[in-house]
Amino acid sequence: MDARTNPYSPGAGVRPTTLAGREGEIEAFAVLRHRAMAGRPAQSVVINGLRGVGKTVLLNELLDDARRDRWIAAKVEADLGDRRTPFRDQVASALNTAMRHAQGRSEGSGRFRAALRTFRSFSLTAAPDGSFSIGVDVEPERGRADTGSILADLTDLALDLGDAAAELGVGAVLFIDEMQHLSREELSAICQACHETAQRVSPFFVVGAGLPSLPGILAEARSYSERLFDYSDVGRLEEDDARGALTRPAAEEGATWSAEAIEIVLEASGAYPYFIQQFGQTTWNAAAGSPISEMDAVEGIRQGRARLDQGFFRARWERATRGERDYLAAMAQDGDGPSSTGEVARRLGKRPTSMGPVRANLIAKGLVYAPEHGRIAFTVPGMGDFIAREDRRS
Ligand SMILES: Nc1ncnc2c1ncn2[C@@H]1O[C@H](COP(=O)(O)OP(=O)(O)OP(=O)(O)O)[C@@H](O)[C@H]1O
Ligand SMILES: [Mg+2]
Repeated sequence: MDARTNPYSPGAGVRPTTLAGREGEIEAFAVLRHRAMAGRPAQSVVINGLRGVGKTVLLNELLDDARRDRWIAAKVEADLGDRRTPFRDQVASALNTAMRHAQGRSEGSGRFRAALRTFRSFSLTAAPDGSFSIGVDVEPERGRADTGSILADLTDLALDLGDAAAELGVGAVLFIDEMQHLSREELSAICQACHETAQRVSPFFVVGAGLPSLPGILAEARSYSERLFDYSDVGRLEEDDARGALTRPAAEEGATWSAEAIEIVLEASGAYPYFIQQFGQTTWNAAAGSPISEMDAVEGIRQGRARLDQGFFRARWERATRGERDYLAAMAQDGDGPSSTGEVARRLGKRPTSMGPVRANLIAKGLVYAPEHGRIAFTVPGMGDFIAREDRRS
């Protein structure tokens, strides 16, 4: 069928035609906003899940909801690597626009002006040359958000933002994608800021998203973190939702799927959102017309797998060094795992302790995570099978 009208969207953070099965998270965030506006306590949110399950898409959806309610809302994506932008700079830059928008509605509100001054101190501490200037003439607030320590400064900023937002009849929310990349200090700062604002029932919230390791990393940063956040696991779609994710985009284009075609695509996708998009896309292109048949689906899945191998999986595989690949290959003997770290070391003929650095590098690269002590698993669903295929090819 015509690729020009193909309604599927495999990609990173690309909004799907049908956002399936995330009603619970969307509703929970609506409840949070409602409670905050009624002056009731509410918990910040952490969304965690494997690669490609739709965390970024969900975060963007919630960001749109907050903006629709005219909340002061900003989003950052934590960076990885040596040239990483400090979290403070990212927050300063992202909040800049949100503050400017809110300023138009603030009508000389005292608290908003105070928050602007605190924000200015926070930003100047990030970039003393004033490159995050908000384009409004306010003096930085001396002694607020300007210690240079993110731990103290973020709390000051969050408190003042919450107060200012409340005065405007809204709330403030900071969205953080790839949150597992933040340093321990930055994560502590987030916990502390949420802790302080929650105690004062001030409407400042964080909505974070990251790999399944995120709750554990937060718990290491602050022991009370598990009581601070409302955690939400996102992953495979429920059967009906997976079916909707596949059939509804086609229906909008006036096309239907045969029952057999639906079954084999859902089976091949494991109900993972990214794979549904990929197989949906290649099957659509392979199909002669509607209804999409079982044969179309067989061909679509074949082509989709080839694409995944070339892109989604290979991109990650190539990020690993030779030694790291050996480690991943030893893990792949357990399929999608998780594996025991002791057993993986044994397979490589090494002592478990000697594998620590390799494991740490793979974790830092976001390829694996530790679901619990002594266990290790792929962050990418289907990675174990890919490595096995790769082995057979070589
Ligand atoms: N609820 C959903 N229903 C249907 N498709 C979805 C859904 N959520 C995400 N997708 C699709 O899945 C793909 C991956 O989404 P997204 O980039 O948000 O995942 P992610 O969890 O952020 O992945 P990563 O960990 O690699 O950043 C996209 O192509 C998107 O269109
Ligand atoms: Mg993402």
